[in-house]
Amino acid sequence: MQKKVFRFSNSSVEYYFDGKISQEKRITDGAKTVFVTDENVFAAHGKHFKNKEVIVLKAGEEFKVQATVDSVIEQLIAKEADRKTVLVGVGGGVVTDITGYVASVYMRGIRFGFVPTTLLAMVDASIGGKNGIDVGVFKNMVGIIRQPAFLLFDSSLLQTLPDNEWRNGFAEIIKHASIKDAGMFKELEQNGVGYYQKKKKDLDRLIRRNALLKTKVVQKDEFESGDRKLLNFGHTLGHALENQYRLSHGQAISIGMAYASSLSSEISGFKNKERVIALLQQYGLPTSLDFDKGKVIEVLKMDKKKMKESINFILLEKIGRAFIKEVSIQQLYENL
Ligand SMILES: NC(=O)c1ccc[n+]([C@@H]2O[C@H](COP(=O)([O-])OP(=O)(O)OC[C@H]3O[C@@H](n4cnc5c(N)ncnc54)[C@H](O)[C@@H]3O)[C@@H](O)[C@H]2O)c1
Ligand SMILES: [Zn+2]
Repeated sequence: MQKKVFRFSNSSVEYYFDGKISQEKRITDGAKTVFVTDENVFAAHGKHFKNKEVIVLKAGEEFKVQATVDSVIEQLIAKEADRKTVLVGVGGGVVTDITGYVASVYMRGIRFGFVPTTLLAMVDASIGGKNGIDVGVFKNMVGIIRQPAFLLFDSSLLQTLPDNEWRNGFAEIIKHASIKDAGMFKELEQNGVGYYQKKKKDLDRLIRRNALLKTKVVQKDEFESGDRKLLNFGHTLGHALENQYRLSHGQAISIGMAYASSLSSEISGFKNKERVIALLQQYGLPTSLDFDKGKVIEVLKMDKKKMKESINFILLEKIGRAFIKEVSIQQLYENL
């Protein structure tokens, strides 16, 4: 297990790479710990929760809502969790988003950490301190930015992860490569999901590279006034599609990235749209969808409850370099 500490504006976060979930006790240092997980992770990794205080959530994005937050709070009260209790989210992005949110409001904020168990959560969702829930069709409408105390990376947990969830994780990895890391983009072009499933060393290296890439972006711009926005590549359209069409997050942003790449070639002469689309397909991700344009535009305009005539879109200048551009609703409509 290798420890690295990263400073953010209000706190520092301990990252434990190449760790084992069983080492969590060393990190929480004897404090009263309550684990939050979901029923799939609990079923697959139950042995790690033996004799522990654990709150098991129903699995899935549809449970990333206020009702689940209320239920976790009630269970914390029943378990007599106090200000010294540490909340540890063991799961995918849904579990980490909810755990961070509850821990941020319970008794005005208690310590929390994450053991991400999906590839997506390891390279993205667990990092950066955004915590929150969905409201209706609006993704991540309510939440807070607060950093966890620690992140523990144990890639052996991925052995039980279904293949479609591996592909979802690669959607965020391809996003990182597209906006910030042309070298990683080339590496990904040479491999595939099956390769990383077999080569643990290369997988660990890829997870670390992505975790560090996101961390660096967030450190420079924690509250998203500039560079952090680039991480939304593929997400503007992706989020508008995600809940309406029951796509997974990875599938939705993959379609969003394919679309944003096309828009990039239309608007800014980006020359490698085919390479982005081919890479997404190589990792088993969808790159198009027959959707209701009018309905999606409505959701885009209403994002975060603001009716807009134009939207800030993340476009690619070249592979490894992205920029923000204001695009009119009209222009979007024509290119959908
Ligand atoms: N906070 C952020 O910055 C941020 C960034 C990206 C995504 N997210 C959020 O993350 C969520 C998506 O995360 P996700 O893809 O991890 O989804 P998820 O948490 O729903 O996990 C996906 C599925 O895998 C199962 N699972 C998890 N770990 C497993 C394991 N080791 N073995 C077997 N099954 C396992 C889960 O039960 C679930 O069914 C979305 O809500 C998204 O908004 C947040
Ligand atoms: Zn995402």
